[in-house]
Amino acid sequence: AIEKKVNELLSKMTLDEKIGQLNQYTSQWEMTGPAPQGASAQKQLQEIKSGAVGSMLNVVGAEATRKTQELAVKNSRLHIPLIFGYDVIHGFKTMFPIPLGEAASWEPELAKLSAHVAAVEASAAGLQWTFAPMMDISRDARWGRTMEGSGEDPYLGAEFAAARVHGFQGSDLSEDSTIAACAKHFAAYGFVESGRDYNTVDISEHTLRNTVLPPFEAAVKAGVATVMNSFNEIGGTPATASAHLQRDILKGQWGFKGFVVSDWNSIGELIPHGVAANKAEAAELAINAGSDMDMEGHCYITSLKKLVEEGKVKESLIDDAVRRILRVKFELGLFDDPYRYSNVEREKKEILSPEHLAAARKVARHSIVLLKNDNHLLPLKKKGQTIAVIGPLAADKDSPLGSWRAQAVTGSAVSLLEGVKAAVADKNSVEYTEGTALTVGPRTFTQELKFNTTDSSGFDAARQMAKKADVVVLAVGENCFQTGEGRSQTEIGMKGLQEQLMKAVYAANKNVVVVLMNGRPLVIDWMAEHVPAIVEAWHLGSEAGNAIADVLFGDYNPSGKLPVSFPRAVGQLPIYYNHKSTGRPDPTGTVFWSHYTDQKKTPLFPFGYGLSYTTFKYSPVKLSSHEMSMGGKLEVSVNVQNTGKVAGEEVVQLYIRDLVGSVSRPVKELKGFRKIALKPGESQKVTFTLTSDDLAFYGADLKKKAEPGDFKVFVGTNSDDVQENSFVLK
Ligand code: IFM
Repeated sequence: AIEKKVNELLSKMTLDEKIGQLNQYTSQWEMTGPAPQGASAQKQLQEIKSGAVGSMLNVVGAEATRKTQELAVKNSRLHIPLIFGYDVIHGFKTMFPIPLGEAASWEPELAKLSAHVAAVEASAAGLQWTFAPMMDISRDARWGRTMEGSGEDPYLGAEFAAARVHGFQGSDLSEDSTIAACAKHFAAYGFVESGRDYNTVDISEHTLRNTVLPPFEAAVKAGVATVMNSFNEIGGTPATASAHLQRDILKGQWGFKGFVVSDWNSIGELIPHGVAANKAEAAELAINAGSDMDMEGHCYITSLKKLVEEGKVKESLIDDAVRRILRVKFELGLFDDPYRYSNVEREKKEILSPEHLAAARKVARHSIVLLKNDNHLLPLKKKGQTIAVIGPLAADKDSPLGSWRAQAVTGSAVSLLEGVKAAVADKNSVEYTEGTALTVGPRTFTQELKFNTTDSSGFDAARQMAKKADVVVLAVGENCFQTGEGRSQTEIGMKGLQEQLMKAVYAANKNVVVVLMNGRPLVIDWMAEHVPAIVEAWHLGSEAGNAIADVLFGDYNPSGKLPVSFPRAVGQLPIYYNHKSTGRPDPTGTVFWSHYTDQKKTPLFPFGYGLSYTTFKYSPVKLSSHEMSMGGKLEVSVNVQNTGKVAGEEVVQLYIRDLVGSVSRPVKELKGFRKIALKPGESQKVTFTLTSDDLAFYGADLKKKAEPGDFKVFVGTNSDDVQENSFVLK
């Protein structure tokens, strides 16, 4: 029925009106305020009214979206509603952990819950479309956008991509509380050279297909309504101008029916990329390649009509793009009631509701990873222990909100200090001093940060306080605006004077628990060697401090596992567990093997790593058979026992290795995982079913299939600590 309505509407549209649907602007004036004054805002106003705009981004709020929608619906000839898009990445106002943190839960259901809550809040504020989830695989933590994805692994990434799409979109896009999702950035944006944002990408078709694309394909299978292309080029062709990516793979092989939106001016950026001489050439390349909507590039609106008249762009391609956009608008129910999402009552009631905050706390505590806990320093006692809370991030109520924070209220997170104070029996048992400031000057989404590298005047107080306390909780890491778009770094250790503060505090009291807050893996070699306890707490969102306290005091036994490898040194980047063997993987007795002469080649903490307050013992891996036939399956099982004194959860991980392929295969590939809960002494049999489809990959002929031969299968607690067995695929 929707197809019929789309075609009927399309048949009434002029070429100008069609091109209008492909045009997306960011708002140029306060939509709830007086009419705009400046010439360019005036022009935008007139274009919205005349039907020359199909979508707006960054118009937020029930009232603002209603007013803007009225401009389009009441004034344009065909009354076609706008679709309002916004970056709702890890929460709208109730903030959840940054996506990398959520991935550390290894519970896609929680990412679905977080996306659902974000959709409820965003839709109540008049939005119908989020530019999320971001599913770029990243192996180089210098890249600031590592925080936005699910880490380095295509399997884990695909599970989280699909879960988030389901969370945002629900089972019915036309429901008031669901919004259209957007799989981004298509493609390979996480592979920018040297981790520098917007930089060149040059990867093989094999890596593209086997590593980068699986989360996107999973999102398409999950019914994602839209896809955003990426800023980078791949091997000479910017993704925005890539027909191979957008037409052949996405819309062709995967049968994607939604629409592709460009990234911000990524069509205009075809000019500095050096593949288009002007906006008209850029528009021609992008539309022919399958980019349907132009975000803030002003290329389609200024050039497409002439390009059609000159015969450089077929009108049928424009029709196809319009059809895709209208289809999503119909699916969202915008033609039934263009104002249905702009609901002031809902906005007041649902945003930041107690249920949403409770969900944020739950997801946050499940996202925490315990990296080290010597001599059971953790959990802390709520009574009878004095605690010194120290560090630049300890009382910070803003950084935990993370980068890409949508409408989060600045400084609204529960700080670590507040969380600790709320948890202990006697607030007087907790003392606080900052020790050192991390940054100086403004901290905003658009500005470069400046770090404090000179003022150590707080060190003495920190030392004194540490000396007197039973235990120190030291909160260090990254300001949230060190991460996100445009935030690449050449060093990924602790900035400012944090390392020095840590050493000073540790010299005064060895009972130090470091709570790390960060948006990327960090180089923390000294800390890992000396400090007895380390808690990886990412940027956990609105309820950060409470969630961290839940873990510090043992109200929640940590169960997170790293979705990314932590390097020992920045020079190891890119580092990832699913690397290839190379021809010289092992020591030869000379220097002539694949290694570094000044550093180990292994990560500091491997992919999948994370401790618990209890311990788990794995039995040897059993297989239902040592042979699998093509099209067949086999069962892989282990017994896992909780051998400690408290209840806990464990993520049981399944990996394989294809020993000989038509192209070389990774030394390990994640193929399954399950989080199980065990009481002390309890054991559980965990069985994974492995099919020959699970073994398929894009080989020498670039066709996806499993290849017969020998396989290893591994099950364990992280990518490095596994039991193994083997089988043959016949
Ligand atoms: O959605 C984002 C994208 O990820 C990066 N460039 C800007 C877009 C819109 O804000």
